[in-house]
Amino acid sequence: MKGKVCVVTGANSGVGRAMAAQLAELGAHVVMVCRSEERGREALEAVRKATAGQVELVIGDLSQMSQVREVAREVAGLHPSVHVLLNNAGIYLPKRQLTPEGLEVMFAVNHLAPFVLTQELLGALRKGAPSRVITTSSAGHRLGHLDFTDLQCERSFGGIQQYAATKLANILFTRELARRGKAEGIVAHAFHPGGVASGFAQDEPGLFGTLMWLGRPFLRSAERAARTGTFLASSEEAGNSTGEYWADSRRKKPSREAGDDAVAARLWEVSLELAASRRSG
Ligand SMILES: NC(=O)c1ccc[n+]([C@@H]2O[C@H](COP(=O)([O-])OP(=O)(O)OC[C@H]3O[C@@H](n4cnc5c(N)ncnc54)[C@H](OP(=O)(O)O)[C@@H]3O)[C@@H](O)[C@H]2O)c1
Repeated sequence: MKGKVCVVTGANSGVGRAMAAQLAELGAHVVMVCRSEERGREALEAVRKATAGQVELVIGDLSQMSQVREVAREVAGLHPSVHVLLNNAGIYLPKRQLTPEGLEVMFAVNHLAPFVLTQELLGALRKGAPSRVITTSSAGHRLGHLDFTDLQCERSFGGIQQYAATKLANILFTRELARRGKAEGIVAHAFHPGGVASGFAQDEPGLFGTLMWLGRPFLRSAERAARTGTFLASSEEAGNSTGEYWADSRRKKPSREAGDDAVAARLWEVSLELAASRRSG
């Protein structure tokens, strides 16, 4: 991975931090995108120390599309060519919360932020081609369904349902991006990291948080969970195909809805509209 620029979101903890370290270890120049300056700096120093690799930090709250665009501007300013974008930042919330831009938070962070960041970095990804966009999804996508009449959960909200819907959106986004990116040498993949002992959702009240906390002894390390993402970012095998869903560095069949091209195309159009409306308002 020497000479390759890899951008990793949610890089201060868990799977993102481990992927940043593994890619730096392989010689990549890693840009760690983190929400908090303090947590980001601590992670940056740790990854630098452990790998002696080239690592940089960019700060932004990815729940706000204005900040996602700022992050993209900063990254593209530092690196006109980007070779790998790892859309990994994610969140689970048991209660419906809205961002200042009026989006449901899980929808904003887990789906629209990867969509907007990828759009805004398309120029750099084209310059870096052959390039890759890897998105951390989840096996939980199988519980998800996209209700296009209520994407922001104004009518009804369930934490697990909405999280699962956003992880389904990750695979649909990947599918459509793969189709559009083919002619430009941009490959797209999504993956399930496994159940990870990362702290994800463990402080959240409710069933999901409790299950994550109780299941901790059975969860895999972030380092092990990161291997599939690192494999997708770096291996020849993953570079020779596109639009697939992976777990444990192997291709997996996603849910039926995740494989629906019409739903993928519709999500792309709706996401474009939502992103555009967050540009002006
Ligand atoms: N843990 C699991 O068992 C599991 C299973 C399947 C899929 N996944 C997926 O794996 C990915 C990584 O999760 P993880 O397990 O490594 O959990 P994690 O340690 O909690 O990492 C999540 C990362 O996302 C960042 N993030 C959350 N909201 C953000 C925002 N508004 N702006 C910028 N960054 C934000 C977090 O930053 P802060 O530190 O600032 O909060 C953190 O760096 C997620 O997409 C998750 O859905 C996890």
